[in-house]
Amino acid sequence: MSVLHRPPSPLEDPGSPLARAARQPLMLGLFLPTQTGAFSQSLHPRNTSWHWDANRDLTQQAEAAGFDFVFGLQQWIGKGGFGGEMRYRENFLDPFISTVALAPVTTRIITISTVHILYGNWHPLMLARFAATADHIAGGRFGLNLVTGYDAREPRMFGMTRIEHDERYERADEFASIMEDLWAGEENLTYEGRWYALEGAYVSPRPVSGRPIMVSASASPAGFAFAAKHSDIVFTSSPKGPVFTKAIEALPEHTARIRAAYDATGRDPKIIIFPMVICRETDAEARAYADAIASAPDMQSIANYDARHKGGDAHGWPEHVAADRVLGGHIQIIGGPEQVADQLEALHRAGFDGVQLGFYDYEPELAFFVEAVLPILEARGLRLPVAATMQA
Ligand SMILES: Cc1cc2nc3c(=O)[nH]c(=O)nc-3n(C[C@H](O)[C@H](O)[C@H](O)COP(=O)(O)O)c2cc1C
Repeated sequence: MSVLHRPPSPLEDPGSPLARAARQPLMLGLFLPTQTGAFSQSLHPRNTSWHWDANRDLTQQAEAAGFDFVFGLQQWIGKGGFGGEMRYRENFLDPFISTVALAPVTTRIITISTVHILYGNWHPLMLARFAATADHIAGGRFGLNLVTGYDAREPRMFGMTRIEHDERYERADEFASIMEDLWAGEENLTYEGRWYALEGAYVSPRPVSGRPIMVSASASPAGFAFAAKHSDIVFTSSPKGPVFTKAIEALPEHTARIRAAYDATGRDPKIIIFPMVICRETDAEARAYADAIASAPDMQSIANYDARHKGGDAHGWPEHVAADRVLGGHIQIIGGPEQVADQLEALHRAGFDGVQLGFYDYEPELAFFVEAVLPILEARGLRLPVAATMQA
């Protein structure tokens, strides 16, 4: 599609929340547990809760500790979620509504929502206005993670059939290009695309810094090409499964591929990944805790979730097997505070600009991470005091 107008990235505005966050050598995010079971299919006891109040409190806890962003997952699931004893993901707060609601109860942290732009009746005009409004409510702290989906059953819930993998990104490109035009164009937009048409359309107010923060969650060449055109942040996974020692070997090449996709743009993506962090006072205690979680798998929900992934066409999790889901995470970081810091540093060396952390028992484990690991990251220069990021 020919693009009429392209808004600048918030990264180009030195005062924007994203530009500030990006001054951190390693950005820190929290993957919100807005769904039953969060990201781990284990029956080992914990207090992680999908409820709104819990997610609000966690976001405030993360913000107080200097975290840069929180992130909401999106999935569409039938009755009982993925089943099992835990009824995995049966309750699922909508990430768009949740992230918008987080803005007025926070002041600095960025909130990012996943949106399936190809499902239902999303039209670029609608989402352009919704996102511009969210961005104003959040004072420029709102991000959109545009995804195309991968599960065949999800589109059927909307009366649709799954579109072929690369064609989804062609449609997403048209969708995102129209939104950009609506955020940046000077006049009413009349446009006849392959999939979307508009006549005399306009969006005002404009987003705070050109456009909302744009994120792409992808692991494929088509996804990286889309990201290079539209996104500030690439949220990717581990091509070699979640076990740290194996995953880390493949990640430098993976992040290099993403950067290469951006070569022609003259921009540099911020690349992030989702580690599940299991941290205790000592390495041995952390390993024992991880073993306890792993030894209580919710077998039925794991089988159901695995079937979804096997039937999906995403490139993101080729070597992730059912057993990995008990603990969860796209990469698993297990150890005492020094070992956890070592592994985060290794991710930084592998080309990551940020991590979006998950925990098994969110509230106490986030608190322990902040108390025990964050000072090590600061001492190693991986984290700056928030005040230092405020100066352009
Ligand atoms: C790190 C990561 C996170 C993702 N998060 C979501 C999500 O929240 N919901 C979803 O439906 N798909 C998610 N996806 C998959 C996207 O829908 C993606 O567009 C689809 O799998 C096909 O693209 P790909 O092969 O480029 O990954 C994610 C993918 C990755 C790599």
